[in-house]
Order: sequence, then C-alpha cells, then structure tokens
Amino acid sequence: MQLDVFTPIPHAFAWQTEQRPVAAVLGTELELRLFGYRDTTPLRAGQIDDEPYGGGAGMVLRVDVVAAALDAVYGGVPAHRVIALTPQGRQLDQPLVEELAREERLTLLSARFEGFDERILEHLATDAVSIGPYVLSGGELPAMVLVDAIARRLPGALTEGSGEHESYSPELDGGLEYPHYTRPAEFRGWTVPEVLLSGDHGRVAEWRREQSRARSAALS
Ligand SMILES: C[S@@+](CC[C@H](N)C(=O)[O-])C[C@H]1O[C@@H](n2cnc3c(N)ncnc32)[C@H](O)[C@@H]1O
Repeated sequence: MQLDVFTPIPHAFAWQTEQRPVAAVLGTELELRLFGYRDTTPLRAGQIDDEPYGGGAGMVLRVDVVAAALDAVYGGVPAHRVIALTPQGRQLDQPLVEELAREERLTLLSARFEGFDERILEHLATDAVSIGPYVLSGGELPAMVLVDAIARRLPGALTEGSGEHESYSPELDGGLEYPHYTRPAEFRGWTVPEVLLSGDHGRVAEWRREQSRARSAALS
C-alpha cells in the first residue's frame, strides 16, 4: 500500500516510522510518504493558512495550498481515496480500518487551528474521517492513529497469529477480547483464574469465549 500523509508538520511522524508495526512493513507492504504543505505552497514565506471570511478567531487551511500540494505529488486530484481528518467526519472503527487497509493507495490530509477551508472537503477530499467525538489541536495524531491501525492489518506487521482474536475482530464476532494473564500466578494475593493454569485447552477456549461474550455484552 502507498500511504501519503499531507501535514503542516511532517517531522512529527519520525518516531512512528521507527516503531512496530509501521517499521515492520515499511519498504515492503507499506510505502509511507510524508508531505509538508509549506514545501509546495504558492504563497510567500511558507504561508499555508489564512483568516476566516466572516471573521472569528483562528486560521483556516487554504484550498489553494492543499490543491498545490496535490498537484505537486499527483499532477491534480488523485483517482484514489483522499481522506480529510476532521472531528466532523465518519467515526473510525475497525470495519473502516479493514476497508481502508484493502486500498492500494490512500492519501490523508491533516489540518491545524480552525481546520480546512470547506472547499477542500467538497472538492479535494473523497472522505472525512474522525478518530473520535473530541477535538484535538491538529490532524497529526489522528493521521498517526490511522497509519498505525492500517499498518497492523498489513501482512508481516505483527507476529504470526497475534492480529487474530483481537477486540472487534470477526473471530470474536466484532466483540471484545478475553482477559490475559502472565507470571507470576499469584501477586499480593491476586490470583490467575484456575482454568488458565489447568492445561485443559478445551476449558480454556470455552472460558475465553464466555469472557469475551460477557465483556462485549457489558459494552453494548
Ligand atoms: C482544532 S481542530 C479543528 C476543529 C474544527 N474547528 C471543528 O470545530 O470541528 C484542528 C484539526 O485537527 C484535526 N482533528 C482534531 N480533532 C480530530 C478528530 N477527532 N478526528 C480527526 N481529526 C481531528 C483536524 O485535521 C482538524 O482540522
């Protein structure tokens, strides 16, 4: 997959490229390209945003700046999906992650301050995605959330089998994963459920199914 991120702060992504799961698939399953709006802005002194028409506080990311960035990389609006990150978008969930992870090419647009000139959403982006019903200061963290969630669905990102039976996976009917425990078997009187120490794989599997069902029911 080719995943392109357009942002006012491309260097914010440096740490993510060094960490799993992104590091594990970079150069093989994932080509991650980072573009700064300031590098291609047609305005002087690296300007990328402007005051809102109609007045009000904050600065708005300009449509001509985003169009110039897309022109420089794709020679126009690309044929693939362009996702604007905004708290007003479709809320991200695992089915949407799976859908996006199947794309061959994807572009993410992030903004800061007051956000996008509406014409970016209307004419340059195909989708608007929110990572949750709260407002962050910029689209870098939302973009990183999306990059991480997508990268871990690509082949080779995770150790064999660790991406199955996860919360929200089809293997658990979209529900929550069962609890995990590791050594020591007792700590401060806090014990591990006996079934997990029993060596009885059938009972363990049944217990895990039960736990997953109970947790998922409590959530809904
Ligand atoms: C301060 S926010 C703008 C909020 C906007 N004025 C509003 O009220 O809807 C600045 C930028 O951060 C990003 N952002 C903030 N919260 C987000 C969220 N929950 N999901 C996705 N992107 C978000 C978006 O790129 C947004 O344009």
